[in-house]
Amino acid sequence: MSVAVAVAFPNIALIKYWGDRDADLHLPVNGSISMNLAGLTARSQASLEPHLAQDELILNGERVEGDGLVRVIAFLDRVRALAGVEERFRVVSANNFPTAAGIASSAAAFAALSLAATTACGLRLGEAELSRLARLGSGSACRSVPGGFVEWHMGVDHASSYATSFAPPEHWDLRDHIALVSEAGKAVSSRQGHLLASSSPLQEGRLLGVTERLGRCRSAILAKDFAALAEVVEQDSLLMHAVMMTSSPPLFYWAPATLRVLSAVRQWRSEGAPVCATIDAGPNVHVLAPGEWAEWVVEQLQGVPGVKQVLSAAPGGPAHLEM
Ligand code: DP6
Repeated sequence: MSVAVAVAFPNIALIKYWGDRDADLHLPVNGSISMNLAGLTARSQASLEPHLAQDELILNGERVEGDGLVRVIAFLDRVRALAGVEERFRVVSANNFPTAAGIASSAAAFAALSLAATTACGLRLGEAELSRLARLGSGSACRSVPGGFVEWHMGVDHASSYATSFAPPEHWDLRDHIALVSEAGKAVSSRQGHLLASSSPLQEGRLLGVTERLGRCRSAILAKDFAALAEVVEQDSLLMHAVMMTSSPPLFYWAPATLRVLSAVRQWRSEGAPVCATIDAGPNVHVLAPGEWAEWVVEQLQGVPGVKQVLSAAPGGPAHLEM
């Protein structure tokens, strides 16, 4: 086969990855936990094209050049080395959600591309091997390979750093309601941000407690204990943003409406609603709640000034081939 199409979902980190021990291999300084987001898809078609002199990338109908292309070529070089092929690829990808707005579009994109490109070369990688490969494209992409609720084992080298699922999507109907307050691309990429993490005096403190938070988060998900999940998810997200804000130079991803949503979520929770919030490297707020609260949460979020749109997702499955 020399052409393949794969689909993957983005993921929302419930315990965050922030900082690399090896930036080239995307080996993280801590493990992380996430949930895949069903319905938000990255679809990637990869074909081997013997007549091409250089890899080509079309994203959402537009040809990508510059840094975006360089990053994909570096990744495809790894695929070529793994498969023992020399031909160039044509990659045609599309996301059905806004790119670069803190919704981990690169995670879904590299998970889908890992599967599409290796399949196009005739390889059939197992899940762990695919997760490791996706990690080389974007760290968090390794978590979009397995399905449902996923943990990225930080590992110490390329072989030991990959993600596995610890509960399938059907385990718990937890929803992620993404309050979009801006669809603009982020000013500082997470790749650059990871390099700054160790310049914050707070990073050490964040890392000291992370094993314990990973355990609490995993247990809360397995027990479907929303209150316990809310506590650890919000604390972990705010710890990461505290590190970002105290790096040199500092990184502020929040917009005024980000804080308005955070305050509203705390208010609703104090009034008894099971909701909590987490934010990745962007201004949009991911509001988690059990499925039966979905309609209520969306309605409330739409009423917060500055919220332009709300996207909702249930737990999603693994990266898969489209036949
Ligand atoms: C804040 O995986 O996007 O979303 O490896 O440089 O592509 P690269 O970084 P990326 O970083 C994700 C950062 C985060 C937290 C998380 O998803 O765990």
